[in-house]
Amino acid sequence: MITKLEEILNQTLKQLNYNYNVKIVKSNIEGTDFQCDDCFKLAKEYHEAPLIIAEKIVNKLKENPNYQTYFKNITAAKPGFININVSDKLINISLKELMNKNKFGIKEKHNKIVLDYGGPNIAKPLHVGHLRTAIIGEAINNILKFQGNKTISDVHLGDIGAQMGQVIYGIINDFPNQNYEDITFDLNYLNVTYPKISALCKENEEVKQKCAQITKKLQEGDKNYRILWQKICKLSVNDIKKIYDYLDVHFDYWYGESDSYKYFDEMLKYLEDNHYVKIDDGAKVIDVKEEDDKIEIPPCIIQKSDGAYLYATSDLGTIWQRKKDFNPDEIIYVVDARQSMHFTQIFRAAKKTNIYNGKLSHYGYGTVNGKDNKPFKTRTGGALKLEDLIKETKEEFINLRKENQNMDNEDLDILVNSILKFADLQNDYTRNYIFDIKKFSEVNGKTGPYILYTYLRINKLLTNNKANLSDNIYNDIDRTLRLKLLEVTNILEEAAEERKPHIIANYLYELSVIDNNFYQNNHIAALDETIKNDYNIILTYNNFILKTLLNLLGIHIPKSM
Ligand code: ARG
Repeated sequence: MITKLEEILNQTLKQLNYNYNVKIVKSNIEGTDFQCDDCFKLAKEYHEAPLIIAEKIVNKLKENPNYQTYFKNITAAKPGFININVSDKLINISLKELMNKNKFGIKEKHNKIVLDYGGPNIAKPLHVGHLRTAIIGEAINNILKFQGNKTISDVHLGDIGAQMGQVIYGIINDFPNQNYEDITFDLNYLNVTYPKISALCKENEEVKQKCAQITKKLQEGDKNYRILWQKICKLSVNDIKKIYDYLDVHFDYWYGESDSYKYFDEMLKYLEDNHYVKIDDGAKVIDVKEEDDKIEIPPCIIQKSDGAYLYATSDLGTIWQRKKDFNPDEIIYVVDARQSMHFTQIFRAAKKTNIYNGKLSHYGYGTVNGKDNKPFKTRTGGALKLEDLIKETKEEFINLRKENQNMDNEDLDILVNSILKFADLQNDYTRNYIFDIKKFSEVNGKTGPYILYTYLRINKLLTNNKANLSDNIYNDIDRTLRLKLLEVTNILEEAAEERKPHIIANYLYELSVIDNNFYQNNHIAALDETIKNDYNIILTYNNFILKTLLNLLGIHIPKSM
């Protein structure tokens, strides 16, 4: 719709000898559909008063033989706006066009994009902090795929960090004099061992040193430690997969930080041969500060003086690997905003050293907070396990309304997903949010269940379409709904361009509010056949939009609720 209006307006501008393309936006003025605010810019360029220009455009438009077809009313308003009300006919023409378009007529992009999200650390259970990267990452992945891009998702396991040395230390102590091959343990054992040794390291410097030694040897490829390490990884990854499956989050690759280690020698040689590294206090570093930095950006350390590798080394090595394996146009990282310094450093290092010249994007999200507005903690002060959060959400939802108790388990899980995902995606991800299960589970309000309920309620009304959409619009709420449906193309394009799923979530909510209003004000069963048929077409399309967009956010439709 907006594209069409822009076309018409820009033709008129050409006729008036203005060499300029204006934009049309949705109007916030009650009773006005759209507006054009660009006469102010034109005024500067052509040295005329904005209002005069607006009036000229309006008058010229009125001479257009199609004026009546397209517009109900168009006026120049002080101090230089153009207010537009479109005709019902234009709304219906545009709707019919839209309904015939594949993917809502969005402009496709065909880039190859690697997405790095999830990033769980092996041997530690997933906690609430891992929820955001999974949900936001998967949504951005879906949206970019829908836009036509080829995406490659990689979970990028934290599989070779300090926690590994600690767990291995624990195992060696618990199973003395045993062949590493013969040692067996289960997930429960892992879940106790990591926190136990991690606590011990805090009070005992000697243990801490020993653990660090093990980690270093493991990183260097020590065969014996690798035997235990593989066992730990297998158990832990299985467990992690279960939760991702529950959340319907999937990865093309299950690579870990450790997979980048095989490229370190090659990469370090390249960096040294080309004089990109310098020695600073015995450590190998890449200088990444730039002249107009407002804050100090410390050098990127890639090897410590004792030879150990760091987080930055594995991220740089992973970029090396991804370039080699996929040669992507862009690599996207959906990682906690608190890591933004790290990403600034490695992005600069990768560019400066020509390791990778494509686009590197870090989408840093805010924290999930408790009612005290501090990062969410359990009553005992620990991080809330994701598994427990899911359980609690399910219980809360079941206890909320009588109807929920009768839902089958599959539907309940779909609802839990909708609660967690919609809560997470409804605001710009850069913002923190307070986790309030009760609020997010309500069937009324800006929640996943509200949108799903709207969908199901409408779905009950739908029948097979008989005739085509007529040229009529029947009342204001009907008109509002049709205009809202027409926004879908821009919403999807904007969400994909800006990589912001909340744009879709907001639209879904606004559309659902209109739907409920429409539903309450039109008693469809009692209407005459033509109206009924028109409404059936509109609402069928409405639900197609709801379902498609919900799916992009990772939310599915339950059978009933
Ligand atoms: N494992 C890391 C953490 O828990 C997140 C990994 C993010 N991805 C990356 N390429 N650095 O903090």
